[in-house]
Amino acid sequence: MTRNIAFLLSIILAFSAIAVRAAEKTVTISTKDIQLVYKVDKGNKLRQCYFGESINDNAQHVQVTKHDAYPTFGTSYVNEPALRAVHADGNTSTELVYVSHKTEQTGDGIEHTEIELRDSYFPFDVTLCFNAYYKENVIEAWTVIKHSEKKPVMLYNYASSHLFFQEKKYFLTQFYGEWADEMHMTEMQLTRGIKSLESKLGVRSNQHAHACFFLGLDAPAQEDAGRVVGGTLAWPGSFNLTFDVDNLDNLHVICGINSFAGQYQLAKGEVFETPKMLYSYSSNGTGDVTRNFHRWAKKYGIWRGDRTRTTLLNNWEATYFNFNEEILSKIIGDAADMGFELFLLDDGWFGEKYPRNNDDAGLGDWMVNRKKLPNGIGYLVEEATRNGIKFGIWLEPEMVNPRSELYEKHPDWVITQPNREIDLSRNQLILDLCNPKVQDYVFSVVDNTLKENPGIAYVKWDCNRFVTNSGSFFLSADKQSHLWIEYVRGLYSVFERVRANHPEVSIMLCSGGGGRIDYASLRYFDEFWISDNTDAYNRIFIQWGTTQFFPAMALASHVSTSPNHQTGRITPLKFRFDVAMSAKLGMDVQPMNMTPEEKEFSKNAIKEYYTFREIVQHGDLYRLLSPYTNPRTAMMYVSEDQNDAVVFTYLLEKVINGGNNQVLYLKGLDPNKTYRLNELNKEPNKWSWFNNLEGKSFTGEYLMKYGIRFPMYNQFESKIIRLTAE
Ligand code: DGJ
Repeated sequence: MTRNIAFLLSIILAFSAIAVRAAEKTVTISTKDIQLVYKVDKGNKLRQCYFGESINDNAQHVQVTKHDAYPTFGTSYVNEPALRAVHADGNTSTELVYVSHKTEQTGDGIEHTEIELRDSYFPFDVTLCFNAYYKENVIEAWTVIKHSEKKPVMLYNYASSHLFFQEKKYFLTQFYGEWADEMHMTEMQLTRGIKSLESKLGVRSNQHAHACFFLGLDAPAQEDAGRVVGGTLAWPGSFNLTFDVDNLDNLHVICGINSFAGQYQLAKGEVFETPKMLYSYSSNGTGDVTRNFHRWAKKYGIWRGDRTRTTLLNNWEATYFNFNEEILSKIIGDAADMGFELFLLDDGWFGEKYPRNNDDAGLGDWMVNRKKLPNGIGYLVEEATRNGIKFGIWLEPEMVNPRSELYEKHPDWVITQPNREIDLSRNQLILDLCNPKVQDYVFSVVDNTLKENPGIAYVKWDCNRFVTNSGSFFLSADKQSHLWIEYVRGLYSVFERVRANHPEVSIMLCSGGGGRIDYASLRYFDEFWISDNTDAYNRIFIQWGTTQFFPAMALASHVSTSPNHQTGRITPLKFRFDVAMSAKLGMDVQPMNMTPEEKEFSKNAIKEYYTFREIVQHGDLYRLLSPYTNPRTAMMYVSEDQNDAVVFTYLLEKVINGGNNQVLYLKGLDPNKTYRLNELNKEPNKWSWFNNLEGKSFTGEYLMKYGIRFPMYNQFESKIIRLTAE
């Protein structure tokens, strides 16, 4: 009897195992509105089946495509594989078959999926990993590779992810730039063949290109309509986003580390994990995709994304390297008087034997320059405290000038090739973070500065050059190509240690402006400096591009002097404030050079910023008029409860007839609520066309359908309009 029951049970178990296995052959990665679906075909190959808006009944997916989920060189029908490996016996092909998959909840609203694939012959494993953020509609995709072959396997291509699309047309928006000219946007229709967005710079990788894209499916991407995919790679090193329209007009999107000159020798048992590729999708245009990324970033992507960011005055453009204790003390007093919450001391405070009085000496010697600051940093921290504000400090811990004590002591700590002239950029070299001793040193620079000067509340972490002569004295000759990856691993390890010891300090990610901005670094950073170009006119474009993927709460935007130091452009102080206040407000001006009227205006502007910064920093961004297509540009932020909103509008050029009269159709409001309109940061005693609307109330429906209508006449005229639900 007992034997019969046991037999029956084993049959039931066997059948249910088969049922589970069969049911498991569709893998669905879903968020609230997006689905990524894979299916296993009869040959046990994993195929991508669908990526787009969620379909209620997923079981209907029976039409398996021929497109490998993760195409491999040698066996997949693609131009560009996601993976190319040379196996221990010299075999250059890889053929992946499905083994198993599992899905689990790893956090509130986060579902983690792993799909295990294995080579059909070699003990070579590839796991496709995904985190699906339910509410935020963001999917992270990455890959883990390992093997137990007898000898190392050489990885030549190792993408984080591959996505496949089957549409008639594809429109790619890319983000590119240069120093002081970051985050331009341009859209193009993809034609047959490969278009790559890439960086091979290794460090300061975003100097010329940003690892972000929008993809309009079938039509150019629109702000509030149409199917759009957004993607960005969380990786501060070299990257490659490849868009390959194949011979049948299918599109393959392959994203990950740029493996150029970066083949990786994977030892038996070693686990190779690629960076995470972040995707979002909307059937309602780029605006939605942006808001998805912003909401995700504030919760998961940036350090303490729930906290309100402080305002600050930075002395870089105020003094450059020419300051002393007296000058700084005066600036600290003025900053406090104007209402700033923090003073940030920039470059030039250090170096003994080689004082840092310009950019050709001292980097690496992080001891205070007593000639400039006889009482040390501690005195300035106290000075700030006495004035009721906080103190921050500039560091560039990854770099060294040859004219430094550090370089004299450790010439083998830099990235360079032996038997080549050292190649300087901004007179400096990069410290080789592949070397654990260098990691310890870089960590100690930050750690000691903070420990020795208690009270420092903020660090600006700069990084001013990219890699040339890519040699490491630490890596063995056969592993020189690992430098691109080992550097970043070393960097992460330093970031981790700094954060473990200093969770409360705010840290700004800066790289000669926006040369390093990515969601892997931002996990450790509160905010970023997107450009050394502080010209408010240029900033409108730079910030427009940046906020497509990164939230304004973390985007430091500073009012600077006029004529602007980078462009020579003359703009009104109000315009400069109105632009800076649309993100995280700061200032780069020597207050001593300001007139009493300018100081008074600044004081009021800063005070006013505090009344609405919560909306800018924690609200949702809606773009109204693009600076690329309109002489007048506008955007707005709406609080989560839709009770508060703030609209920013700027006139970029004078248009004689009509062009400056564009309607601002507001977005994101509750149609049933009534909002009162008030202009903020007004110029004293100046009549404005907005006066007709001042203090008036309208329903959200009216404001979204009829909009706000008032003309603007002069170039660089600007308005900030506050909406308050009654
Ligand atoms: C580059 C940064 O982007 C600037 O803001 C400033 O900190 C300089 N470095 C200082 O050298």
